[in-house]
Amino acid sequence: MEPKKLAGEKAVDYIENNMVIGLGTGSTVYWTIRHLALRVKAGLHIKAIPTSMSTARLAEQLGIPLASFTEIDRLDLTIDGADEVSPDLNLIKGGGGALLREKIVAYASERLIIVADSSKQVASLGKFPLPVEITPFGWENTCKQVMLLGCESLTLREKDERPFVTDNGNYIADCKFGRIDSPDLLEKSLNAIPGVVENGLFVNMADQVIIGTEKGTNIVEK
Ligand code: A5P
Repeated sequence: MEPKKLAGEKAVDYIENNMVIGLGTGSTVYWTIRHLALRVKAGLHIKAIPTSMSTARLAEQLGIPLASFTEIDRLDLTIDGADEVSPDLNLIKGGGGALLREKIVAYASERLIIVADSSKQVASLGKFPLPVEITPFGWENTCKQVMLLGCESLTLREKDERPFVTDNGNYIADCKFGRIDSPDLLEKSLNAIPGVVENGLFVNMADQVIIGTEKGTNIVEK
């Protein structure tokens, strides 16, 4: 079976009745959402906070009850994908542009489970360009400041020959830093730049990673 499907569906085993769940974004969590919808139809009672408009649409279509931070303070569990996973479970996320909401939801969760196929496992972070969400105002200058942190090359993400706009109305700079040896330091340094809203380094946030393979799933824990 498809490794992403196996990983995505496996994560649903960790969802219990009456939990508040964070629903991530991407092609692996897609399978989580579909599988969860079947359990909801069968009587599982949960509420979910989506990390993107696309996830909200999918969950709604499939009949998963949605909630927001107006009524919820803490989530029991968030399930999300990743673009890179290091051996100590630090992550690069944001390939789909949803990193800000993903980080807000993960930060408010008791547990974060990542679902991915084995292509996402890396010895060290940095091959995948790090997505950095920046405000449209002053984006040119913000990019220059990001370059000063040792960024080797930076591309403003585009869609249909226009800047890609996130669910929050911001832009994404995809930044090649080479091998990222101190993700915690880089995460903080980037976020200290005015104009940077958030970046795709998720440091010490994931509790468990479910890796899908051709044959089944492997669980990696801290
Ligand atoms: C969305 O912005 C990302 O953080 C995704 O979680 C990440 O890109 C993983 O996506 P796939 O599961 O589609 O590979």
